[in-house]
Amino acid sequence: MENLIPGSDPIPVAWGWLKFFLLLTFIFHLLFMNTMLGTAFIALANSFKKSKTALSVTKKVSSKLPYVIAFTINTGVAPLLFLQVLYGSFIYVSSVLMAVYWLSILLLLLLGYYSAYMYDFGFNRLGSWRMLFIAITVINLMIIGFFFTNNATLMLHPDQWSRYFDRPFGTLLNLTDPTLWPRYLHFMVASFAVGGLFIAIIGTLQRNKGLEKADREITLGMKWFSHATLLQIFIGLWFFITVPKNIMLLFMGQNILYTSMFIIGIGLSFLTVIMGYRKKVLASTVSMLLTIVLMTLTRDFLRTAYLNEHFHISKLPVIPQYSPMIVFIVSLVAGLAMVVLMLRWAHQSIKKVNS
Ligand code: HEM
Repeated sequence: MENLIPGSDPIPVAWGWLKFFLLLTFIFHLLFMNTMLGTAFIALANSFKKSKTALSVTKKVSSKLPYVIAFTINTGVAPLLFLQVLYGSFIYVSSVLMAVYWLSILLLLLLGYYSAYMYDFGFNRLGSWRMLFIAITVINLMIIGFFFTNNATLMLHPDQWSRYFDRPFGTLLNLTDPTLWPRYLHFMVASFAVGGLFIAIIGTLQRNKGLEKADREITLGMKWFSHATLLQIFIGLWFFITVPKNIMLLFMGQNILYTSMFIIGIGLSFLTVIMGYRKKVLASTVSMLLTIVLMTLTRDFLRTAYLNEHFHISKLPVIPQYSPMIVFIVSLVAGLAMVVLMLRWAHQSIKKVNS
């Protein structure tokens, strides 16, 4: 099995920097991905309802979805680069093993994105047919998420890679891994929660401007948020018990850092549920953000633990070359400033068109 793991390339800066940026940019990707998938799913579910609130929520989602999809894709690029630099020996192999599905993501994304635009631009014209377009978007995005979870788990299992010799067609998935489904559902249900919270946040901003119907939208959003977060606790538990015992024990006292982050994360998720059911939008947002940070750390510890017998990033050879990283940091800050500016301009021009 060890023969199947390619040698590692040297890295240009100390691994801690690359890991920090991997986790930081991944958190951004996750937040946008959750908002995108969650709001799209909630819009689809509300398409079956006739109420004014349902119509208003779906309309709002339709106009924001193309932006959020663009942000999801763009914030995905940075962690992909850092992941390849640090874990190239694993992620390249798993991507090749599932190449057909991996490359199909581009097509699925195009279809889902296009359909989201149709949903937005044709919202009034399409009538009840618009449901079809949001359904296409949701299905495509959910399939993409499934392929990501397959890759993120297949990279951790070099013991599965020799299956390539029976099926050398780039069509391997990681379906026999017991963590696959709970892990995937963990991401999907998180999306429904974050999507609901996003709707509640938009509602709160509008209520502050004196819009009466906003209250009903906040209630709708917070219902999705609280129910999904509660469900998430059970799915998280299911995920945890499918992890191999030797790794599970690391999170149950054997490793103090892993255990403490994991326990604080679980504690925070309970707090998030309580805040959600009390309809405290700001407190829920803060608590949810902290939970996501801790769960992202836990996910990273899990990856380190899985790969421990084959690899450790601290062993990667370093050939110092700090200038590309400095350019990256400068571009990141400049890019973020540009995005804020563009969003402001977009917001102002939408306001002008509507007035
Ligand atoms: C727009 C549809 C997308 C969806 C629904 C989606 C969903 C997901 C999900 C569910 C995961 C977590 C997988 C797991 O750990 O089990 C993930 C991870 C990831 N996604 Fe996305 N993603 C999308 C687009 C993209 C794009 C276009 C890129 C890159 C250009 C990208 C880059 C990444 C990376 C690098 C990770 C893994 C980071 C890590 O393991 O540290 N994603 N995505």
